[in-house]
Amino acid sequence: MTSMDWSVGRYEHTATQLLPAAEVVVERAAPAMGEHVVDVGCGTGNAALLAAGRGARVTGVDPAQRLLAVAREQATARNLEITFLPGEAAALPLADASAEIVLSVFGVIFAPDVKAAAAELARVTAPRGRIVLSAWIPGGPISQLNRIASEAVMRALGAPAGPPPFPWHEHEALSGLFGPHGFTLGLEEHQISFTGASASEYLDTESDTHPLAVAGRAVLEPRGEAQAVRARSLEILQAANEDPDGFRITSRYVVATAQRA
Ligand SMILES: C[S@@+](CC[C@H](N)C(=O)[O-])C[C@H]1O[C@@H](n2cnc3c(N)ncnc32)[C@H](O)[C@@H]1O
Repeated sequence: MTSMDWSVGRYEHTATQLLPAAEVVVERAAPAMGEHVVDVGCGTGNAALLAAGRGARVTGVDPAQRLLAVAREQATARNLEITFLPGEAAALPLADASAEIVLSVFGVIFAPDVKAAAAELARVTAPRGRIVLSAWIPGGPISQLNRIASEAVMRALGAPAGPPPFPWHEHEALSGLFGPHGFTLGLEEHQISFTGASASEYLDTESDTHPLAVAGRAVLEPRGEAQAVRARSLEILQAANEDPDGFRITSRYVVATAQRA
């Protein structure tokens, strides 16, 4: 199965919004000086840059070539030496047991083959190493937006609705995934807020920049179906708005730590 290319749109905008989550994940992983950290689905390098800033030896892996190029530029600008490699979660270009820490900030959750991705993260993790990942908790306004957009895209393409997404936010599901590889799971909950001048300004910026939205519009617009999705999305955002003087919504997510004995 192939995934979509996150090089489309302008992921840089989303990366800025998600930086607080990368900070939480890196803080939780607590890389020591010289430890090898692998950032899976590194995008423009949020977590990789933070880990390298703490003195870790870092490798970032992502399938999106344009995002890797942005990540490399950022590392150079900050005078940090980081290796950024093309690759995906289920086929990491790294040796067995080569990383003390494997991180993934909303990255591995996009892998089409969940079991293969988990096995691969486990393969590169060293004995007594740890995997720290973040995953959205479904149910908030953004997850509703993503669901209606992806359902509209599937309908437009005449594709059957896919299976429900893997519950990356659930302790039991993660234990089932990583337990057989010798890991013990811990889970904590966090939240992150997104702001804008108004619901419609926020929505317009997301539709113009977020790779999933840009890819969805490319399918829906020529078929005249983008407007209906936009109208429904706006209703959801307006109903969820927490700021009477502007726009703010909050998404909940988990940070899971899988520790290998
Ligand atoms: C929401 S972004 C997160 C990027 C980055 N970790 C951050 O915090 O900004 C999702 C990232 O996962 C990457 N991705 C998508 N499918 C993937 C896969 N199968 N394996 C690894 N990464 C993948 C995308 O290219 C994208 O960079």
